[in-house]
Amino acid sequence: MPDRLRGLLVGCGGMSRRWTEVSRSLSDLDLLAFVDLDESAAQARAADYGGTPLVSTDLTEALRQTQPDVVFDCTIPDAHTAVTLEALSSGCHVLGEKPLATSMADARKAVDAAEATGLTYAVIQNRRYDPNIRRLRRTLNNGSIGPLTTVNSDFYIGAHFDGFRNHMPHVLLLDMAIHTFDAARFITGADPVSVFCKEWNPSGSWYDRDASAVAVFEMTGGIVYTYRGSWCSEGLNTTWECDWRMIGQDGSITWDGADRFEGEAITARGEFRSEGAPIEVSPEDTADRIGGHEGLIQDFVECVLTGRTPETVCSDNIKSLAMVFGAIESAEKCRPIDIHW
Ligand SMILES: NC(=O)c1ccc[n+]([C@@H]2O[C@H](COP(=O)([O-])OP(=O)(O)OC[C@H]3O[C@@H](n4cnc5c(N)ncnc54)[C@H](O)[C@@H]3O)[C@@H](O)[C@H]2O)c1
Repeated sequence: MPDRLRGLLVGCGGMSRRWTEVSRSLSDLDLLAFVDLDESAAQARAADYGGTPLVSTDLTEALRQTQPDVVFDCTIPDAHTAVTLEALSSGCHVLGEKPLATSMADARKAVDAAEATGLTYAVIQNRRYDPNIRRLRRTLNNGSIGPLTTVNSDFYIGAHFDGFRNHMPHVLLLDMAIHTFDAARFITGADPVSVFCKEWNPSGSWYDRDASAVAVFEMTGGIVYTYRGSWCSEGLNTTWECDWRMIGQDGSITWDGADRFEGEAITARGEFRSEGAPIEVSPEDTADRIGGHEGLIQDFVECVLTGRTPETVCSDNIKSLAMVFGAIESAEKCRPIDIHW
């Protein structure tokens, strides 16, 4: 493997701006091409990047001309599988925006293609690279509240988007809850077993399709994880990272998704209610995987250069996606669903 990677970025809409900024700051990556169905979008992103990268509306042709090592996929969710399969079959490692795919069948195709080609396909789950979720995970791993039994998360944001989300089926579960479900897997260190979900579009919603959901997951180790969320909830919005409560056998921790934690661990049992004392959450560790998009993209480049496997590799990330599709199937069938991937 060379000591610098040649890259191509496809899908030059809103999110790609961040990818372009990060790419520009990386000394071991050169973006050689910007591709979008809309040429003016590709041109704008190429201008942000600087230099003279190829601008194209044709991914096949751009891959042929520039022969990149890595493809960054920032297209809309519906295009992720086709872009990934084409990039892998051209010999490129892929880092793509979430969600991995818009169906489990497509997700399995992409995972199988990565395995068959021996190339890496990883997904951006930038909220895993949040320093505060890392602090929380370290605190739980230290056993400060004992074995986890229950995790709750609330996501309430009145988000007035323009574009694909206004018309997307299962918009909250597929486009947003994937972050939260992936965070729940990270926090618990557990995998999903089953789910029961109710999805609906509240009256007054500005979305065409269901923008609210509640779901109860059974996770491995007997942990119960509950999700309540809405993208058309006005007032008292939570953070994008959710309001969380983690309950262990010996205490509880709450986290507002930003930098506010509260924790209490039991010091004496025996009366009707046990006695507890506040617990401190672990401090930030700059050596940990942090930095959101920047941290993840940088880590991916390093993984490709060194042969290490990224934390958000598709064969693991598919488990978070399986939570999404389990929840969708449960909502459609109005019954609990076993989760498989
Ligand atoms: N990780 C995060 O926090 C985060 C935040 C926002 C969006 N996203 C994800 O980023 C992705 C892009 O979202 P966005 O907000 O930038 O959308 P967007 O609509 O602004 O941009 C998408 C771009 O992809 C282009 N495109 C679509 N199909 C294509 C194809 N087949 N080939 C080439 N170009 C194609 C469109 O022309 C458009 O310019 C989505 O998967 C979304 O879920 C992630």
